[in-house]
Amino acid sequence: MKILVVGSGGREHALVWKIAQSLRTPKIFCAPGNAGIEEIATCVPITADDVAGLRDFALRERIDLTVVGPEAPLALGIADEFRKARLKIFGPTKAAARLESSKSFSKDVMLANHIPTATSRSFEQMEQALAYLDEQPVPIVVKADGLAQGKGVVVAMTREEAKQAVRDAMEHSLFGQAGHRVLIEEFLDGEELTIMAFTDGKTVVPMVSAQDHKRVGDGDIGPNTGGMGAYAPAPIATAALREQVMREVLQPTVDALARLGCPFQGVLYAGLMIVKDTPYVLEFNARLGDPETEVVLPLLKTDLIEVMEAVVDHRLDQLTIEWRHDTAVCVVITSPGYPGSYQTGFPIQGLTTRSPDAGVAVFHAGTKRVADGVVTAGGRVLAVTAWSSSLRQAREQVYQTVPSIQFDGRHYRTDIAHRALSHTT
Ligand code: AMP
Ligand code: GLY
Repeated sequence: MKILVVGSGGREHALVWKIAQSLRTPKIFCAPGNAGIEEIATCVPITADDVAGLRDFALRERIDLTVVGPEAPLALGIADEFRKARLKIFGPTKAAARLESSKSFSKDVMLANHIPTATSRSFEQMEQALAYLDEQPVPIVVKADGLAQGKGVVVAMTREEAKQAVRDAMEHSLFGQAGHRVLIEEFLDGEELTIMAFTDGKTVVPMVSAQDHKRVGDGDIGPNTGGMGAYAPAPIATAALREQVMREVLQPTVDALARLGCPFQGVLYAGLMIVKDTPYVLEFNARLGDPETEVVLPLLKTDLIEVMEAVVDHRLDQLTIEWRHDTAVCVVITSPGYPGSYQTGFPIQGLTTRSPDAGVAVFHAGTKRVADGVVTAGGRVLAVTAWSSSLRQAREQVYQTVPSIQFDGRHYRTDIAHRALSHTT
């Protein structure tokens, strides 16, 4: 069996790593991949947004299943193109992926289906957005409508800060086209939670819950990033809460898209804020989260290929998906300066290969192989995950491993999973 994974980050390394453990012994390709993925798959130099190039490669190589990691190719319609070419692909169509690629589309779906979310308004005229802000309490949240790599959201503590965020997006085009429409949203004060689910367009099977750490600094200080670390499962996600999220968020969303004529197939990601035990949707993503994937997949017991095939073939109702009863913790190591501008090309020391049974995995996020080793090649460079029967052990293990991996100016948070620890003590 031949599998193609699209993407080049920590999420894709975790996908390739998990797929490589399948009893089906697949031959794995990754486009474009990175230095870590290269050790377990054949990397091909096609970028993730080159939809035609990927389709031609899949046809030529007779790929049995393509798995899409990032949002950009989904928003470009990779699933539609592959299906037209009669190629199997794990990921939603362009129309279904609007749940992520257009925050106003996703808000409309939520409002029409009574899915709990923050009150918000969408603007295409800057003057109207600024005038609206004058009437709103602070804190308040300003969001670019389109894809902005997790950086298009500003939680403004003052009205002036909110106005600046509107001007940055609409006047200075800080997020390009993605920010020409903005959403201004009520601030929700609570604890964040990620629940991702496999869905074939009808049946929805939630994964173990996870909690991401979006701010760059310890104590949740500083700007939002793509994610600085995660852990799974999150103690805040009790059985009752998970059940509520299934009933009030995931299933109604999947049903709504089916009714709209654009059934959602793949992974639906709900980014939630839990306010006094009630879940509100902050965002939907149309794919696996990063770094949530790096903590969730190590806990998956069922063969990932079986799960993905059941999704693609619309028979998820016939599969039981099993999880380990462990806890996983992931710490992301970033380039100095991230999420602002940063340099790349720094040699990385201390990378060693580990067996999947070791309880620790070093997923590469932004790395490149050069003649004499591996160098940094992105903002998020590595995602180190440890899993164990206890959260404390997993955390200890991950923080023993991280300092042994070094490059100039590297940064990581030292408090990943602090919230879970406070829940468990
Ligand atoms: P998003 O990309 O929409 O998930 O937003 C990125 C981050 O901004 C979230 O993970 C939250 O930390 C924060 N955020 C987004 N929307 C809100 C909101 N309505 N209230 C409070 N924080 C928010
Ligand atoms: N960790 C957040 C995301 O993948 O969008």
